[in-house]
Amino acid sequence: MSLKAAATAVRLNAHAPYSNFQVGAAIRAASGQVYVGCNVENVAYPEGTCAEAGAIAAMVAAGETRLTEVFVIADCPSPIPPCGGCRQKLAEFGAGDVTVTLATIDGHEQETTIGDLLPGKFDASHMDRS
Ligand code: THU
Repeated sequence: MSLKAAATAVRLNAHAPYSNFQVGAAIRAASGQVYVGCNVENVAYPEGTCAEAGAIAAMVAAGETRLTEVFVIADCPSPIPPCGGCRQKLAEFGAGDVTVTLATIDGHEQETTIGDLLPGKFDASHMDRS
């Protein structure tokens, strides 16, 4: 299944009764396996989790730690920009040149990379003197 089809399908499982904004994410890991996630909100609002975080958690739970491609989709006026936290999460597991496709459910797509989404990222080298 394509990343687009996987993200589009899992989006419908999102638990988003507070925002009414459903997001689907699909990532391809280094093995070629596809992992999916959707946003899961909570009545205690800060406890909600993003679609990207769910897909990454599924990948790591399956024993993989490198991702090679990402697709995120929502019902947006323009392709959904991942939140700041998700940009950092993607950067933990994917190289700067990994393609991230951002999409709307009515067919608009924008291709970017993890590096372009998070310039100047915090990484382990910043802890070198600690
Ligand atoms: N959301 C995601 O799942 N991914 C993003 O990158 C942006 C925001 C979710 C979180 C929340 O459930 C809803 O969208 C509204 O912010």
